[in-house]
Amino acid sequence: MTRKISLTGIKPTGNLHIGNYFGAIKPALELAKEYDARYFIADYHALNIMKDPKELSALIREVAAGWLACGLDPEKVVFYRQSSIPEVFELTTMLMAFTAKGLMNRAHAYKAAVQENSEKGGDPDAGVNMGLFTYPVLMAADIILFDSDVVPVGKDQVQHIEMAQDIAQSVNHNYKQEVLKIPQALVSESVAVVPGLDGRKMSKSYGNAIPIFIPETQLRKLIMRIVTNSQAVEEPKDPETSQIFLLYRLFADSKEQAALASRYRSGGMGWGEAKEELFRVVNRELAPVRERFNAIIADPAALDRVLAAGAEKARPIAAATVRRFRRAAGIE
Ligand code: ADP
Ligand code: TRP
Repeated sequence: MTRKISLTGIKPTGNLHIGNYFGAIKPALELAKEYDARYFIADYHALNIMKDPKELSALIREVAAGWLACGLDPEKVVFYRQSSIPEVFELTTMLMAFTAKGLMNRAHAYKAAVQENSEKGGDPDAGVNMGLFTYPVLMAADIILFDSDVVPVGKDQVQHIEMAQDIAQSVNHNYKQEVLKIPQALVSESVAVVPGLDGRKMSKSYGNAIPIFIPETQLRKLIMRIVTNSQAVEEPKDPETSQIFLLYRLFADSKEQAALASRYRSGGMGWGEAKEELFRVVNRELAPVRERFNAIIADPAALDRVLAAGAEKARPIAAATVRRFRRAAGIE
């Protein structure tokens, strides 16, 4: 029986943090046990906002090494850079002809930019490049090109998958045959939103993130910076409303969680002590991942070889989809 296909991509627009780790990377790697997985680095998507070449190239490497350090096995997962697959861009152009401009006007990211501009009283399209405006078409191409069945993503990306469905459906409708496979979003409800250092959702754009691969001393410093209230040491504390505890839950086993929760409730434990315990379990999980990451980053030629081999495996799959579409379209 052929296995279903799971596909997802990560944009190299910031340092990978533990929100990405629990919210995206780990669940995708879990799925790879059951599905034929195709995971990639969405570097052309990043180009819309990343205009510094040094920074972009470092982040492309970081995301690639990050996937591998977290356990992606390139022998089992087709793992590549979006920019290595020219068919992505060919398919994007073809899909453009089936994408209503009005559909793009409704995209959340574009609408948010327009609204922000309008509130400032300026040109509604200020700072909006065509890459941002057509972002969902490129993403639809990423997905459709590889005959994806499921696309594991966070809730914020569901609209993009729905747009990919719409676009693929209008192609199939036009040619009265199933030229393209219709993908489904896979949003794991059990994956909680990881809180950041200040209690809001951890995000690179809020400056509240704990990067996965920072050195141990910096990791400790960041954890010590978690914002707490002014409750005194002796006061009993509520674990459920404590960021330290919410983060602890992600890294500690159930026995450890119960033990720390009871220390919270009985009083006599200060925030400093809770942070030390959090640091211990975070570092326990991240130390081996960090070590693998540092080894991979130290050998860029080997990393390039892994990505080139992935592209090699991806391109025939991509070419077949484009061929099918071109034939259906009368362009051979
Ligand atoms: P950021 O919010 O830092 O810009 P991205 O939007 O690039 O992160 O997210 C990449 C992936 O990581 C997405 O699948 C997203 O759902 C997941 N993710 C990001 N932040 C979190 C978080 N705080 N908790 C859970 N998942 C997250
Ligand atoms: N837009 C996604 C994000 O911001 C990244 C992405 C690009 C992606 N292409 C994709 C995700 C294809 C899933 C499938 O997180």
